[in-house]
Order: sequence, then structure tokens, then C-alpha cells
Amino acid sequence: MTLISTTPMLEKARADKHGIVAFNVHSFDSIYWVLEAAAEMKSPVILQTTVGTVRSLGAKNIVEVAKSASEHFSIPTGLHLDHCTDFQVIKEAIRAGYTSVMIDASMHPFEENVARTQEVMKLAKSLGVNVEAELGKVGGVEDDIVVAEEDAQKAIPAECRQFVELTGVPTLAPAIGTAHGIYKGKPNIDFDRIADIADLVDVPLVLHGGSAVPIEEVKRCVSFGMAKVNVSTELKNAYSKAIKVHFEQEPDSLDPRAYLQKAKEAAIEMAKSKIKMVGSENKVVPSFV
Ligand code: 13P
Repeated sequence: MTLISTTPMLEKARADKHGIVAFNVHSFDSIYWVLEAAAEMKSPVILQTTVGTVRSLGAKNIVEVAKSASEHFSIPTGLHLDHCTDFQVIKEAIRAGYTSVMIDASMHPFEENVARTQEVMKLAKSLGVNVEAELGKVGGVEDDIVVAEEDAQKAIPAECRQFVELTGVPTLAPAIGTAHGIYKGKPNIDFDRIADIADLVDVPLVLHGGSAVPIEEVKRCVSFGMAKVNVSTELKNAYSKAIKVHFEQEPDSLDPRAYLQKAKEAAIEMAKSKIKMVGSENKVVPSFV
């Protein structure tokens, strides 16, 4: 088992009406424990890194560790570059062996978003690398991409269709009311809009801002074909809070194996609950293995 393109994975998930979680990983060991959770659930999974993580760990190193973990756990694994605005970093990730990339040109006018996505498609398509693009603007904070609540914009269904026709992009992330990070109030997901987009667009859709969205609402999004569900904040928080609690309870217990084990266990439980939420447990099919 090695890293696979996320296109067939997500197309199959959409056809079978379940989701695949794309977990943001921030360290080498998080790659291992996400895959340990996926292996326990017998679930395909996507690892994703922001540009900040590529800068801190290095694209080639991330690919090597992801490959080795995917072989170790024998789990179909995609490796995706999340929210990238820089064509050079996209090239670097593809060269290193990422199997999916996101070109985030959602801050630009529609025509420029199309042009930038077409440029990435030219490079990625022949190499079998999946491409994700965003329409509308997802609010909240993801690394150094910050969109204030008042600047968040929902995607327009007719533009989604036109965008997919013009770019041929195999996965689309339309902004539909979720936000990155933990919500202050209840997320205001526009289900009618998702239904309209899903009617017009024949590719798997991506739900950004998957943390702290009520389970039933995520399931409803998935039922409309939002096959990739991104989760970052809740996973990070579960891991870091376990370390915080460890030091509150045992301030002199400084062996990293003690607190990292607790953090890993908390993160694995969180990851498993998200996999269950999208219904991808026991979905490792022979064609993926
Ligand atoms: P959360 O941090 O809200 O889980 O969002 C993750 C995400 O959408 C990454 O692109």
C-alpha cells in the first residue's frame, strides 16, 4: 500500500454516500496516529498539510513518512496539500509525491480563480494528482489564511457549474456556511445551497471547517455528495489538551513518552469519532488495497 490519488477514493465515497475525513496533520507522529485510527476503523483516509506544515517539516519528508505509515498500516491513504495560494509550493508538493493539491484562489475574482485553477490542472492532471479548488470564501483562520466573518461569502451554484466546466477540476470546495476553527455559535449551514450545487455539479464536494459541526449536520452534508470532510482544529485540540491536563496533574512528569502517549490516545479517539461520523468505517475495498 502506498499513497493513492484522492480522486477515485472520493468518487467512490460520493457514489456510496459516505464521506472520507481529511485530517490536518502537523507533525510526523500525527501521520502515524491518524493512520492507526484509520486502521482500527478499516477506513480509507486523507492526510493533509497546510503550507505552514510543509515549511516546517519539508514536503519530501512528509511524503516519506506518509508512505511508510500507509504501508505499515495497509490503509488506502491520500496525501493532500491544503489551502495553497502559491503555485511554486504546489509544484514542490507534486514533485515530492503529494497525491492531491488545493489551489485556493478564492480571494480572487471568478475569472482569475478559473485561470489559476486551470494552470494547476495542466500540471496535475497528467500525473494523476487530484486538484481541489474553492468557490466563495470560507470564514475563520487556517494557518496564515484569515477570513473575517463579515468577509465570508457563500458559493453561487451557477458559478460552481461554470467553474467545474471551465477548469475540469475533480473536487470542489464551495463555501456553504461553515468556518475554520471552533464556532462561537451554531454554524449556519445552507443546505438548500448545497442541494442546488450538488444538482449542478457532477464531482465530489468538499466540506471545509468540519470541526464542531453537529454530527447530524455533517451527515446531511455528506448525503448531498460532500465526500471530503476536513477536520483540523478538533484533532489538534484533543492532542494538545491531553498534554495540558498531564502537566496540570503531574507537573514533574517530564518523560515525553508519558505525555505523548496520552496525547496520541486522545487524538486517536477523536479521529475515530470523526471517521464514524462520515460513515467510512469498514470501507477499505479490495480495489484500493
Ligand atoms: P477545522 O479547523 O474547522 O476543522 O477546518 C479544517 C479545514 O477545513 C482545513 O482546510
